Parts: sequence; C-alpha cells; structure tokens
Amino acid sequence: MELVKTKNVVSTGSTELDDKIGGGIPIGSLSLIEGGSHSGKSVFSQQLLWGSLRNGFTISLFTSENTVKSLMRQMQSLNIDVQTYLLLGRLRVFPIEVSQSKGEALDDLLTAIQQESRHSDFIFVDALTPCIVGSPVSAVLGYFEQSKRLCSDGTTVITIMHSHAIDRDLLIRIQAVCDAHLRLRTENAGSKLVKIMEVAKIRGASKNTGNIISFEIEPGIGMRIIPISKANG
Ligand SMILES: Nc1ncnc2c1ncn2[C@@H]1O[C@H](COP(=O)(O)OP(=O)(O)O)[C@@H](O)[C@H]1O
Ligand SMILES: [Mg+2]
Repeated sequence: MELVKTKNVVSTGSTELDDKIGGGIPIGSLSLIEGGSHSGKSVFSQQLLWGSLRNGFTISLFTSENTVKSLMRQMQSLNIDVQTYLLLGRLRVFPIEVSQSKGEALDDLLTAIQQESRHSDFIFVDALTPCIVGSPVSAVLGYFEQSKRLCSDGTTVITIMHSHAIDRDLLIRIQAVCDAHLRLRTENAGSKLVKIMEVAKIRGASKNTGNIISFEIEPGIGMRIIPISKANG
C-alpha cells in the first residue's frame, strides 16, 4: 500500500536509522550527505529515494555516476524497483554531463534544479563532486544557498558529495546553510570493514546530533544496521 503525504519527514527505509535522525529527513530541508568513495552514499540515497517515492512524492534525480539504465540495474541489486515510477513520471532521472558543460556545470545544474523544483517534491544530486572541481568557493556556497531558497518553497534537496572535494573551512560554511548533514565513512572493525554514518547536523532534533550508526550493505537488501558493540568487536 502506498502512503499519502501526511508526515513532515521522509523515512530512510530503516526504522533504526530514522530513530537516530529524529524520525527521518525533514520535508522542505536541505541535506548534505558526504563521505569517501564506497562509503555508502549512493546506496543510502537510493533507499531514501525509494522511501520518498513510496510516501507519494515526486522526485528528480541528477546523477553524475550513472545512466538511467545502470541506475536501474544498481537499484535492482538492492531489490528496489523504480521502473513503474519512471514510467509514471513520478521519478525523473537526469545524467549530469560535466564534460559538455564548458566549465559551467554548477550553473547548469542549478538552473536544471530550479526548473525541476516546480513539479518535483524531492531533488537528489548524486554526486555534486564533478560539478565543483575547479569552482571557486563562492560558487560552491552559492549552489547551497540557492538550493536553500527552493527548500523554503517546500522542495526537499539532498546533495551527495565526496569529502575530498572540498576543504574543512568550506565544509563548515556549507554545513551552516544545510538543515541536515550526514557524514559517512568506512572503518576497520577487527577483521572486517564496516560503514559508519555520523549525524553531524539535523534540524529540530539536537539530541540526535552526533549520533553514530554503523551498517553493512547486503546484496538484495541494502543497508543493514549493525549494533555498535558488534561493529567494534
Ligand atoms: N547491491 C549491492 N550489493 C552489495 N553491495 C553493494 C550493492 N550496491 C553497492 N554495494 C557496495 O556498497 C558500497 C557502497 O556503495 P555506494 O553507496 O555506491 O558508495 P558511494 O556512493 O559512497 O561511493 C560499495 O562497496 C559497493 O560495492
Ligand atoms: Mg556513489
């Protein structure tokens, strides 16, 4: 059964995870999901995207990592089937082609986001990284500030970025603009690698800030939360 848009947060697809971030991602918020390569950024955002679709929202996804076809394949490997939503136009996917942007990738992306926000509830950008290579700090900050304006009109914007793409100072300034900031990393826990998500910031739920969640990614399932004690052991 499909849920209607009554809640003011959208589920991450995991109740445990939702609990850690104060119920889910707030509707009309600006979120940053940041981490190294293979830290789980895309898988997490795909689960979020799935949750948003199931909650009745319309989504536009800008991807620098996939074609529509490879994205479908990747999501199917997590047991997420969005074909129907694509056909219905509830999910719109736009591959980002930085090589053809003549150095104006960030501007082009922003224009496209603004356009999409007129009919989409959610905007996902996975990942912003190639668009900001060589961009001045002011342009990168500008991207987040402009996105924030769309949020005040009710759009939820989720931007995924590689940690190495920006320095600490800029990250702090971006975090100040964002309502939510989730940081992902991979850690060595004894004999195995686990993924860690840190809630660096979440709006209206200060008690959740600083929460740490460890998880694994399981084929056909997606993110599986593992107890911290186990992850450490
Ligand atoms: N369907 C899947 N089954 C098993 N592992 C997967 C699946 N999809 C992704 N992974 C693994 O999960 C990890 C995180 O992937 P991803 O979210 O794409 O990382 P990021 O976007 O942060 O670079 C990778 O190591 C990847 O191999
Ligand atoms: Mg990715």
